[in-house]
Amino acid sequence: MKKVVAITGASSGMGLETTKLMADNNWIVYGGARHIAKIPTTSNIHSLKLDVTDTDSNQNFINTIISEQGHIDALINSAGYGELGPVEDIPIAAARQQFATNFFGAAELTKLVLPQMRKQQHGRIVNISSVGGDIYSPLGAYYHASKAALQQWSDTLDLEVQRFNIRSVVVQPSGTHSTWGPIARKKILQNTHGDPTYTDLVDLMTTTLADNARGMSATATDLAQIIFSATTDKHPHRRYFNTFHDRLTVFVARTLPNIFRRQIQRSIIKTKKQS
Ligand SMILES: NC(=O)c1ccc[n+]([C@@H]2O[C@H](COP(=O)([O-])OP(=O)(O)OC[C@H]3O[C@@H](n4cnc5c(N)ncnc54)[C@H](OP(=O)(O)O)[C@@H]3O)[C@@H](O)[C@H]2O)c1
Repeated sequence: MKKVVAITGASSGMGLETTKLMADNNWIVYGGARHIAKIPTTSNIHSLKLDVTDTDSNQNFINTIISEQGHIDALINSAGYGELGPVEDIPIAAARQQFATNFFGAAELTKLVLPQMRKQQHGRIVNISSVGGDIYSPLGAYYHASKAALQQWSDTLDLEVQRFNIRSVVVQPSGTHSTWGPIARKKILQNTHGDPTYTDLVDLMTTTLADNARGMSATATDLAQIIFSATTDKHPHRRYFNTFHDRLTVFVARTLPNIFRRQIQRSIIKTKKQS
């Protein structure tokens, strides 16, 4: 019997590349996104319209998979974006939407697959967070908060469901070439409306995002390989990283006293402003 995986954010970036990789490895993939025309359809890939912020849409996504296949082996929560901007400027409605997508979407879909996974006595939930779930930079407050929440939630869930042979794990990418960067940049400009109050930080972060887009070493294909391992490893890790540098960054962030972290951060910001 072929294994079945549900992937959110399958129309772009890591979700799209993971969709192709899992299908190439003989999994039946249900790829969900709002723009389904961007999801390739092959004999192993089914595209379904999905808005993870909409309960009816989430129910339809999971019910369709279970009624068509009778089982679901893995759920990959990749849908997400960065609602970037100064806390003072981001409307609370936009902050709620950030959590609705990056956190509650994953939570609701997971609740929908768990009864079936318990019945089968196996399952894997793979949550795409970010190194930004542990480190933070200016203008990313709601994005970092949503990813930190996803990580704590995933670890707690893992404690609860491991006894049913279900695991919940986290992938923490760093800057990766996809539409994430351009969308985040657009959000900064939208949220600040040209307000000069935070111009230095806006310039700093929009330049950093543009530089990252030019010099980024990771590709969505690289990350698809990591997500594939997180989904298929017999004995999965709690955290997956693309590079040793990403792993080290998170290790340092979690172990270094806050006073040193802030000093390093201030000096990085100062150096970037001067360059
Ligand atoms: N790229 C990076 O530098 C980076 C770094 C660390 C972590 N991440 C995280 O990695 C994940 C994947 O990002 P990516 O780089 O692949 O970004 P991407 O290329 O922009 O893809 C984002 C995907 O999320 C989907 N999506 C957004 N809102 C949705 C909604 N309400 N309902 C359903 N789907 C929705 C989009 O599809 P539609 O618009 O068609 O719905 C798209 O398929 C995200 O969670 C992101 O936060 C990215």
